[in-house]
Amino acid sequence: MNFKEELSKYIELINSELQKYVEKKECPERILNESKGYSLLAGGKRLRPILMIVTYSLFKDDIEKCYKNAVAIEMVHTFSLIHDDLPGIDDDDYRRGKLTNHKKYNEATAILAGDSLLNGAYKILIDDIGNTSDIVEKSRKIEALYELSYGIDRMIAGEYIDTEFEGKEISSDYLEYMHENKTGALIKAPVKIGAILAGAQEEDISKLEMYAEKIGLAFQIKDDILSEIGNAEELGKPVGNDRERGKCTYVTKYGLQKAQEMLEQITNEAVDIIKKYNKNSEFLVELALYIKNRNK
Ligand code: IPE
Ligand code: IPE
Ligand code: MG
Ligand code: MG
Repeated sequence: MNFKEELSKYIELINSELQKYVEKKECPERILNESKGYSLLAGGKRLRPILMIVTYSLFKDDIEKCYKNAVAIEMVHTFSLIHDDLPGIDDDDYRRGKLTNHKKYNEATAILAGDSLLNGAYKILIDDIGNTSDIVEKSRKIEALYELSYGIDRMIAGEYIDTEFEGKEISSDYLEYMHENKTGALIKAPVKIGAILAGAQEEDISKLEMYAEKIGLAFQIKDDILSEIGNAEELGKPVGNDRERGKCTYVTKYGLQKAQEMLEQITNEAVDIIKKYNKNSEFLVELALYIKNRNK
């Protein structure tokens, strides 16, 4: 398997699915729709939809059956980014290599674009459930929708803690809890959703969940490290902003070296879990390493 090639194929696939949901027609709220498309199609690693599709493919081949859920999670993620960048939260000017939504448009548009992407995700999924006649499939889709809403709820809780602790000391337990929620929850959700939609057994779901929890935490530790020593141009977002705002991160709590060691350790644990679990999980092994080694 050529991981980089596979990854690019998935990114292309997701981008073309997302494109279908950007409304371009003339209407009084055309600029709002344009701003949603601006952030949604600005690039991005598409990690969450990829996780969902790849997890689904461990059990079933008809991956197109989870495209709507894949689009929905990327919409939700984009909503979280638009709101995370707002002046009232992180007050950042660049995201995905472009001006943030509120800088390109204005604050009101950015708030509403986020709201609309969040609602849009639900609309797509509820519509899909309504159009599903097979009762087993329908109930899986309802369960998947619950997992998405649970993930969103946790992400928002994590974002709240992130703002609440700005400029304050945080305990290691709270820091882990914050990361598990603000970032981990929307990384675990797509893995669970992929497995649920494919009809995986409880046992499989819980193994995959353990893997997802590890890579979710690893992902945010790496985000913390990149915010300290990354390259803003490559990242497409600012560097040094966490420190400037007095954010609590793995780097401010433990220092760069220890944060890096923790990242290595958690990645190894994720790789171990997924390797033992399924011999067809090569892509997920590579993905865990990619999260650790990424520069953007
Ligand atoms: C950034 O997420 C926000 C966090 C949860 C750390 P990503 O790094 O996945 O952002 P994109 O989608 O690639 O832009
Ligand atoms: C973003 O966390 C998490 C969510 C958007 C839910 P951060 O604020 O740490 O991430 P970046 O560095 O802005 O992407
Ligand atoms: Mg933030
Ligand atoms: Mg931020």
